[in-house]
Amino acid sequence: MKHTDISELFKYPQKFSGSPVTVCGWVRTWRDSKSVAFIELNDGTCFKNLQLVFGKDKPLANLKEALVVGVALKAEGEFIPSERNGYEMAVSSVEILGGCPQDYPLQKKHHTLEFLRTIPHLRPRTKYFEAVFAVRSTLSYAIHKYFQEHGYKYVHTPIITGSDCEGAGEMFRVTTMPWKTECGNEEEYYAEDFFGHRANLTVSGQLEGEMAATALGRIYTFGPTFRAEHSNTTRHAAEFWQIEPEVSFADLDDIIGIAEEFIKYIIKYTVDNCPDELAYFSERFEKGLLDKLSAVISSDFAKISYTDAVEALKKSGKDFKYPVEWGCDLQTEHERYLTEEYFKKPVFVVDYPADIKAFYMKLNPDGKTVAATDLLVPGIGEIIGCSEREADTAKLIEAMKKRNMPLEAYGEYLDLRKYGSVPHSGFGLGMERILMYITGVQNIRDTLLFPRTVGNL
Ligand code: 4AD
Ligand code: MG
Repeated sequence: MKHTDISELFKYPQKFSGSPVTVCGWVRTWRDSKSVAFIELNDGTCFKNLQLVFGKDKPLANLKEALVVGVALKAEGEFIPSERNGYEMAVSSVEILGGCPQDYPLQKKHHTLEFLRTIPHLRPRTKYFEAVFAVRSTLSYAIHKYFQEHGYKYVHTPIITGSDCEGAGEMFRVTTMPWKTECGNEEEYYAEDFFGHRANLTVSGQLEGEMAATALGRIYTFGPTFRAEHSNTTRHAAEFWQIEPEVSFADLDDIIGIAEEFIKYIIKYTVDNCPDELAYFSERFEKGLLDKLSAVISSDFAKISYTDAVEALKKSGKDFKYPVEWGCDLQTEHERYLTEEYFKKPVFVVDYPADIKAFYMKLNPDGKTVAATDLLVPGIGEIIGCSEREADTAKLIEAMKKRNMPLEAYGEYLDLRKYGSVPHSGFGLGMERILMYITGVQNIRDTLLFPRTVGNL
C-alpha cells in the first residue's frame, strides 16, 4: 500500500513540507467544532501522533465514519507547518480501511493498567504500551549490538531439555502422552513418551551455553526461559526472556567488570535512541527517571560481600518480615534495602554461601562460599545472577552429590571439565527486569506482550 510512515514525516519535515502525502493509521482521538475537525492518527512507526485537520468548508463524504476512535484509515493531504504541532496534515481525501464499533474498549484516554491487562491483544494500541514495546525492541537491539561488537557469538540453546540447570525443580514438563495414560510409575510413563524420558522447558540456557563457550570462546544466548515458580509477585513471570553470556578464560572479577560495562552500554544506547518514550515515562510515571539512568551510566556500581551485607542488614534497625542470619537467602526486602537505602545505587553482592546457590558455582578457598554474585538495583532487587563456574571435576561432582543430582544425566557437562577444562564465568540477565528498571514500569505483567503468570495464560 503506497504511503509514508509518520516517523518519516517527522524525521524529515522539510523534505515533505508543502507536499501531498498519504498516511495510514488508527484514530487515537478526535475533536470536532463548527468549522474544523481534528484527528490524532498513529501508525505505530513513531511515538508521536500526526494531527489530521479537516476543514468544513469542503466537507469530505466519509468524514463522519473517520471521526471514531479505533478506526483504521488512509488519508491524503498536504503536510504543512502548524503553530501548535510543528507539523500537521490538511486532509483532502480519506478512505476507511476498517471501521470500529462503539464497543471498542479503548474509548477513554486513560485506562488503568489493571483494566488493560484484561485486553492484552488491544493494549499495545495505548501510548503506555506502545512506549514499553518500543523500548523493549531498542533494548534488545542494544543487547545484540554490545555482544556482536565485543566478539561474542550468538548461540541458540534448546528450549526443550532433559536437565534442570538451576536445580530448583521449578520446571514445566513437556509431554505428548494422552490424557489419563495408565502407568505403574514415572519411569514407565516417560518410557512411552515422545523422548523416552522426562523432558522440560528450559529454566536457563547456561549448561548448553558453557558447552558452546568452551569451543567458541565467548558466547551469549538471548531467548525465552520458563519457570513454574509459584511466586505471585510483580517481578516473576512463568515465561521470561533471559540474556546469558558465557566467557572462557574469565574469573568472577572479570565477569563482574563485563556485566557492569554491558549494563551501562545497553542503558545508554536505549536512553539515546528512545528519547520520546523515556521522557514520557519520566514525566508521567517515574519522576527523575532520566536522572536516575544518567547517574547509573556515569558512576561505579557498588560491591559488597554477602557476609558484610548480612552485617549491614542486621545493623539497619529495620523491621524485616524475614529475619537475616548468615546462611539465609536474601529476600527482596533485604535486596531493596541494600541497593535503595544502603548504597543508593546498583550493587554486586558477592560470595554467597554455597548451600543457597546452584551446583555449578565455583567453591571459594574458604570451603563454604561460592564465587557468585547477584546484581541488585533500586526499585527491583536482583536483575542479574552471575558466577564463576566450578572447573574442577572432583569439586563439581561433590557439589552435585550433595544435591542428590543424577550424575548420569550430566555426563556431557562433566566432560567439559575432563577435556581441557578452563576457568570460565557467565551471568543471566532478566530481560523484563532490566526493562522495568529502565522504564519505571512497576509490574512485570506490563513488560510482556502476553504475560504468563500463575493462573494466567
Ligand atoms: O539468577 P538466575 O536463576 O540465574 C540463572 O538462571 C543462571 N543460569 C544465569 C547464568 O549464570 N547464566 O536467573 C537469572 C536472572 C535473574 O537475575 C532475574 O533477572 C531473571 O533471570 N529471572 C526472572 N525474571 C522474571 N521472572 C522470573 N520468574 C525470573 N527468574 C529469574
Ligand atoms: Mg538468581
